[in-house]
Amino acid sequence: MRIAVFNGPNLNLLGVREPEIYGRTTLAEIEARLEEVGAELGVTLLFSQFNDEGRMLDAVHNCRGVVTGALVNAGAWTHTSLALRDAFAAVSLPYVEVHLSNIYAREPERRHSWLAPGAIAIVAGFGADGYELALRGLVRALSRAEPSTP
Ligand code: DQA
Repeated sequence: MRIAVFNGPNLNLLGVREPEIYGRTTLAEIEARLEEVGAELGVTLLFSQFNDEGRMLDAVHNCRGVVTGALVNAGAWTHTSLALRDAFAAVSLPYVEVHLSNIYAREPERRHSWLAPGAIAIVAGFGADGYELALRGLVRALSRAEPSTP
């Protein structure tokens, strides 16, 4: 099983970006931990990070028939982009939404997610550990649903 791990804008700066909110773990460290968990679960992970929304939409489209599901931290596009949810729907790609912070306990403008209605589940507020929890949950959900997909 192949799983895409999408990170949106400014998440390339994890580790130095507002560490009091997002922690000191870098994106490379998160991805390295996910690689370990992926090996344990027997899934292949495809990592990408985008500061350009159009490129992220193209990357989601390119998942069609290639990956079984996705983890998505869309950063601030979570709160602005219906197009991103439409892209996942367009290629029938199931996803779990991930946030380091608990967006529902933050400023009002962060308390709405355009991705949430299309997500299998949401993991928010566990910091970097949330990615691992989301991956375990996603693989379990996909294994139940479709035992033998790409
Ligand atoms: C975030 C929360 C968003 O509101 C913010 O714009 C981010 C990171 C999180 O992981 O907590 O970039 O998605």
